[in-house]
Amino acid sequence: MNNYLAAYGLKTIPFNITSDPDFFYRSSTHKEVLSTLIFGLRQKKGLMAVIGEVGTGKTTLCKVFLNHLPKEVKTSVIFSSPQFSQTQLLKNILDDFGLKRERKNRFDLIKNLNSFLIDTSLSGGNALLVIDEAQNLTPKQLEQIRLLSNLETSREKLLQILLVGQPELEDKLNNFKLRQIKQRIGIKCRLLPLREDEIKQYIQYRIDKAGVSILSIEPECYKIIYQFSQGIPRLINLLCERVLLLGFVQEKNQINPSMLKVCIEELQ
Ligand SMILES: Nc1ncnc2c1ncn2[C@@H]1O[C@H](COP(=O)(O)OP(=O)(O)OP(=O)(O)O)[C@@H](O)[C@H]1O
Ligand SMILES: [Mg+2]
Repeated sequence: MNNYLAAYGLKTIPFNITSDPDFFYRSSTHKEVLSTLIFGLRQKKGLMAVIGEVGTGKTTLCKVFLNHLPKEVKTSVIFSSPQFSQTQLLKNILDDFGLKRERKNRFDLIKNLNSFLIDTSLSGGNALLVIDEAQNLTPKQLEQIRLLSNLETSREKLLQILLVGQPELEDKLNNFKLRQIKQRIGIKCRLLPLREDEIKQYIQYRIDKAGVSILSIEPECYKIIYQFSQGIPRLINLLCERVLLLGFVQEKNQINPSMLKVCIEELQ
């Protein structure tokens, strides 16, 4: 791997598939969702939801959002799992807020959380709960979230909740039995794939971030990358990573369409 990086003059792997906020490219859709979330949080909108296809950058966007929050915002970030009981879910939320939770039952946990939220609000702060992979939430867990979204003073919501999930989350929320939670979502936004004209900038941005590079990509490549990925960043990364490796093996500094086609065949 080091040889591969050295061959291209790179400091780090440009197309990792982990969600690294340092590599965040501000595409039109990512920018729009990010500013909507900042607005929603400031306005204390209560429940917010971001829906996006697999690999569009939801987790990365959450990390960027969280990294930019002022200190007065207390956060709890959890990844949902259908295995959690309602009590377990609450415990995880409290844990990530950094709250002690000796007392065990659900009522006590909510009381605990509530007094933390009131203190936070009184000291001019705000509290944000982020639930990633929210498409995995069970109806019972969603009901629990709804109850948390009830925590409020007469003036404002005490807890801002951001649900982040794949389109299955939206299907769940459309379930008639869950209409009560759906009605409470103050902000709902959609994270879209990159536009075709953003692919080149996205790729160039990641290559530049990875260090000064002697790598070049023939202009015809971008259309092929778009056709394969449909603008989904994780698929762009998968393909680009592979073609860079192929280039390294073939000792080429220039990526061309036929190299891409070889990689696409391997990936399909
Ligand atoms: N705006 C972006 N800038 C740079 N890289 C991005 C961007 N969006 C996504 N990526 C990259 O795409 C890959 C997938 O992103 P991420 O894991 O955030 O997607 P996701 O929507 O959370 O996927 P899943 O639905 O599987 O949870 C990661 O490698 C991430 O770094
Ligand atoms: Mg994710």
